[in-house]
Amino acid sequence: MRSRLLRHCEKVNRTHFKSKGFMPTISESQLQLNLSSIDRHAYFKSRYGRNGSLNKIFEPDAAIHNWYRFVLSFPPHLVREYLSQFKTDQLSIVLDPFCGTGTTLVEAKKGGFRAVGIEAHPMSSFASTVKTDWKINHKKLLDHSHKIADTALKKINKEKNLRQLPIDQEVLLLRNSISPRPLHKALILKETIDNLKDEELRGVELLSLAKILVSSVSNLHFGPEVGVRGFKEDADVVGEWLKQIHVASGDLQILGSMNSSKTEIFNSDAREINQIMKPQSVDIVITSPPYPNEKDYTRTTRLETILLGFAKNKEDLRMIKKGLVRSNTRGVYKGDSDDRLVGDVQEVQRIAAEIERRRIELGKTSGFERMYARVTKLYFGGMTRHLADLRTILKPGAMLAYVVGDQASYLRVMIRTGAILGEIAQSLGYELVATDLFRTRIATATKEQLREEVLVLRWPKK
Ligand SMILES: C[S@@+](CC[C@H](N)C(=O)[O-])C[C@H]1O[C@@H](n2cnc3c(N)ncnc32)[C@H](O)[C@@H]1O
Repeated sequence: MRSRLLRHCEKVNRTHFKSKGFMPTISESQLQLNLSSIDRHAYFKSRYGRNGSLNKIFEPDAAIHNWYRFVLSFPPHLVREYLSQFKTDQLSIVLDPFCGTGTTLVEAKKGGFRAVGIEAHPMSSFASTVKTDWKINHKKLLDHSHKIADTALKKINKEKNLRQLPIDQEVLLLRNSISPRPLHKALILKETIDNLKDEELRGVELLSLAKILVSSVSNLHFGPEVGVRGFKEDADVVGEWLKQIHVASGDLQILGSMNSSKTEIFNSDAREINQIMKPQSVDIVITSPPYPNEKDYTRTTRLETILLGFAKNKEDLRMIKKGLVRSNTRGVYKGDSDDRLVGDVQEVQRIAAEIERRRIELGKTSGFERMYARVTKLYFGGMTRHLADLRTILKPGAMLAYVVGDQASYLRVMIRTGAILGEIAQSLGYELVATDLFRTRIATATKEQLREEVLVLRWPKK
């Protein structure tokens, strides 16, 4: 079974590289872990195109991944690189403790590996769960979805008054993120999926609704920050949904028969991972945690979180935010104490002091601005808690890849995220194997090049 899977993945790779006109210039043999950061960047570019396209998802990789993903999710080819580098075998267990929409998990599954994902946001955790369940009968999915579509269309045509969200939920949405008619249709479609419920199919049916809400039904725009652009009076909600169901069904037809490896997803906090997983059970970690960049993951996914029912009011949203590593000032709470863990990390203290100095110098006094220094400390404290907790569940010799980016979001003070996390990891007993440059991005505020790196760590053999 596994060799079939590998053959499939290799074929996908070959097709892709030929069609892009860049066959790998480096042999297929595994890369040496001690390639320098510059060499690694050159390697990534030679293999996947220029810096600007390194983070893109390539067409031959799209199956399953494109069912629903964040704009900024790292690409499947990056996961494949590290899976192949880390000398994995059939029994290896791959973990993504910040699995988001499941790029690592789907890619691990395509490669035949057992995988575990942790994700604190229920919408993203749901997406990862659905994207790694390939047992669904693709024909049954089509039949059932067509029934749903017929029923929903009848209701849509019959009802004259537009449905609305309860006020508690409406206030949580970004203003005008969806126009009244498309919202009405989406609410009816959701209700029909629930009424004609088939447990096996419900996940993929709802995730397909989430996908089209964001991509074609709403007024949302990701650039990469989420915002509202334009105002779509109407949208073919049911038609778009059926199209997406056909895509999912096609993917399941091809990949469903290869579904041999087990994947488990936990809707939980990566800072408390040893309460979820067995000691010494993980061989490989490939992940991209949040960065200290003011990005609010609950905002990016707000529309689908509300429409699919993962948050029914402000309190639900607050509870979701509380489960996340602090990476933006809108998610800081009284009683937060992760910052205590970085009291002796000099670079974190220096950056926090510099941010605060800059804030005073610039006369910035809003509540959020006053919190910039604190959230930076809370972020690194949260990541320290995660890395400390993780140690017990790693097998001796486990290999880890953390994709992290430098940031300058807080009054332009440069935060070298990878370098600091590397230092923290070493103080916790990890070995720093390499800091690979994946790509660079231009900082909007400073026009400086920011590094996105892969921090490669090893948990010692004994
Ligand atoms: C950069 S995204 C990961 C994207 C992912 N690689 C993908 O393929 O979609 C970081 C994720 O970490 C999640 N997260 C933040 N704090 C967390 C925590 N304490 N435990 C688990 N997940 C968390 C966020 O909700 C977000 O989905």
